[in-house]
Amino acid sequence: MSEQTTHQKIALVTGANKGIGRAAAEQLAALGTTVLIGARDPRRGEEAAAELRAAGGDAHAVTLDVTDQATVREAAKQIEARFGHLDVLINNAGISGSGQVSPQDAYDQIPSTVDLDMVRAVFETNVFGVIAVTNAMLPLLRRSPAPRIVNVSSHAASLTLASDPEGPFALLLPSAAYSPSKSALTALTVQYANELRKDGILVNAVAPGYVDTDSNNHTGFLTPAQGAAVLVSLATLGADGPTAGFFSEEGPVPW
Ligand SMILES: NC(=O)c1ccc[n+]([C@@H]2O[C@H](COP(=O)([O-])OP(=O)(O)OC[C@H]3O[C@@H](n4cnc5c(N)ncnc54)[C@H](OP(=O)(O)O)[C@@H]3O)[C@@H](O)[C@H]2O)c1
Repeated sequence: MSEQTTHQKIALVTGANKGIGRAAAEQLAALGTTVLIGARDPRRGEEAAAELRAAGGDAHAVTLDVTDQATVREAAKQIEARFGHLDVLINNAGISGSGQVSPQDAYDQIPSTVDLDMVRAVFETNVFGVIAVTNAMLPLLRRSPAPRIVNVSSHAASLTLASDPEGPFALLLPSAAYSPSKSALTALTVQYANELRKDGILVNAVAPGYVDTDSNNHTGFLTPAQGAAVLVSLATLGADGPTAGFFSEEGPVPW
């Protein structure tokens, strides 16, 4: 097959310099996908990309702060100039709002006393940032024969789980920032999926589980690789795959 007729799959993962995003990038690279490591710190993005290349993958750093429109626009321009299209977008970048504090200890998110500026900052990254990046990358995704968008949500987004006083989520502190931001993200996922269904673009939300990363001060019990598996499954769906869904590695997550 000639160079021109081979379609090289290109995936952009936001927040891929560490944690679950980085593990997803590693797994996609191992499948032969060219991975673009979105990172707001160019140095740490380049370090992660270099490590993936050293392991035999095709990886390139892309400077991208999801809350900074200028970097989002510039990233789309660079990807267009260098690769011409995008097959997979994983909106993984996210913040808890409480720093490296596990959800059980995020007292600063209790609704009646929360600092509204913190809520705004969390929504800026976890929700508005996803809209900014998705809309900037959609023209490139439309050039793919099988575009896939994966939004990294959380079990904490599930209103069904959160509202069950007997369920495991009743043990978590109530949150006015992180959990509602992820509920908004799953809601947004459905709206994008409905708009893009006719164009063959599959859009799904995923819950990686409780993963050992900086975001929870390494209290999670899954490895980043285990957490990333569901991101990669949804990023590599066949044409008959679902859209407008919400999945963990175990199957559908209740809304
Ligand atoms: N760990 C869990 O148990 C768990 C559970 C459910 C869902 N999640 C979700 O999984 C995703 C990844 O989290 P993680 O646990 O892997 O956390 P992590 O290790 O803290 O990684 C988060 C990544 O997002 C990046 N990021 C944050 N704000 C950004 C911005 N404005 N622009 C670009 N990148 C930004 C971080 O970059 P810097 O290195 O520059 O900060 C980092 O690369 C998040 O959406 C999180 O909410 C995690």
